[in-house]
Amino acid sequence: MWGGRFATPPSEALAALNNSLSVDRRLWAQDVRASKAWVTALQDAGVLDSEEAGLLHGGLDRVGDRLSGGAEAEAADEDIHTLVERLLYQEVGDLAGKLHTGRSRNDQVATDLRLWCLDALGPLDEQIAALGAALVVQARAGIDMLLPGYTHGQQAQPVRWAYVLLAHAWPLVRDRDRLADVRRRVAELPLGSGALAGSSVAVDRDLLRDILGFRTVSANALDATGDRDFVAELLFALTLLATHLSRLGTELVTYSSTEYGFVRLSDAFSTGSSLLPQKRNPDVFELARAKAARTLGDLVAMVGMLRALPAGYSKDLQEDKSLLFDAMDAALVTLPAVRGAVETMQPIPDRMQSVLRETLLATDVADELVGEGVPFREAHGLAGRLVREAEDLGVSLRELPAERARKIHEVLPDVLGRLGSFEDSVERRRTSGGTSRASVEAQLGVLEQAFAGQFPPEAAT
Ligand code: ARG
Repeated sequence: MWGGRFATPPSEALAALNNSLSVDRRLWAQDVRASKAWVTALQDAGVLDSEEAGLLHGGLDRVGDRLSGGAEAEAADEDIHTLVERLLYQEVGDLAGKLHTGRSRNDQVATDLRLWCLDALGPLDEQIAALGAALVVQARAGIDMLLPGYTHGQQAQPVRWAYVLLAHAWPLVRDRDRLADVRRRVAELPLGSGALAGSSVAVDRDLLRDILGFRTVSANALDATGDRDFVAELLFALTLLATHLSRLGTELVTYSSTEYGFVRLSDAFSTGSSLLPQKRNPDVFELARAKAARTLGDLVAMVGMLRALPAGYSKDLQEDKSLLFDAMDAALVTLPAVRGAVETMQPIPDRMQSVLRETLLATDVADELVGEGVPFREAHGLAGRLVREAEDLGVSLRELPAERARKIHEVLPDVLGRLGSFEDSVERRRTSGGTSRASVEAQLGVLEQAFAGQFPPEAAT
């Protein structure tokens, strides 16, 4: 394809390093689609007559059919672009040589990859929404279940199980929002940029944009051919998504352990041990954590590669695809498994209830003292003393003898007398976004809507 200038073909060692077909074969459908759009634009510009354009369209369709059927699995072509062109020669003969008029693989690959991203974003968004919906369903069912809320791994205040689950659902709303935003910038058309300086053929780039469903046309050909910001951005969005799945995973690995026992994973979404018959392993969540680390590696490699490059195309950019595909594959294989595990896990409210310690109400004691006019800082100190004395005596807060409580503060016996249940404590946190029933129900309502449809409406491009 570029052999004219060289006396000998590339060495085997160079081909082994340089050839990318094993990775970019996945772009075949986008390459055919973009090539067909290019045929239309060449015809519109008067470079091809209608008969030639018709033959090229038919030939490209047949090439697409062959590739979709798995043809040329062992092909030794340099990349998907050269493979498609070689097959087009087989279909339409020398006319195939006219397809590449005014086009470069530099604007071609950038166009193909952007199309691939646009195609992948829809199914990805659906999977995120489905996981979000699964968390919301579990949350609805768990609104009456109380457990300790933890900070620093320490019991802090009682909360609703629903509230904990929703704390993992809201990040998914942000992920969808972020991906919709990335989509806007993915949808800029590079085709018509040539190798770096624009195309020698006066193609109508707005026509190309409309045929291929892009939102806008790139503004500078040198930038457009070397720009992989969209890959880096998508990798970042995927890294944060993977991070959210990983954090959910960490929480559920802990909660499904024998020691906590707050949830039981279903048989279909836990694995056994080859040696230890009693094990129910949360592999789904452990793998979700590992995929997050790996996806972060993809992002770091991508940005590390980009930072070294001048404007325009350098071959370094060929490495973008294996990183992006790796991260997208990880997301698409992890999301359904995490969703299945969430959908089928069984909360065990008795276990949650049984580990609630009365000291979780220490903040309520302080709040009540504040109600009696004690400044909060002082109230905090008094409640702390109460906890310490009860601990020293080995009794619960309420069991502390009245005279000892009175020594700490005169109203403390009264306050302890009217100290409510864990449920009362949960209901005290009435601010929006808190763990009270009303707030959790409001969140459930918003999230049910948010995960019910496309986000935002498909209008992004
Ligand atoms: N396989 C190449 C890639 O993925 C296509 C672009 C090649 N461009 C070039 N000037 N050699 O980046």
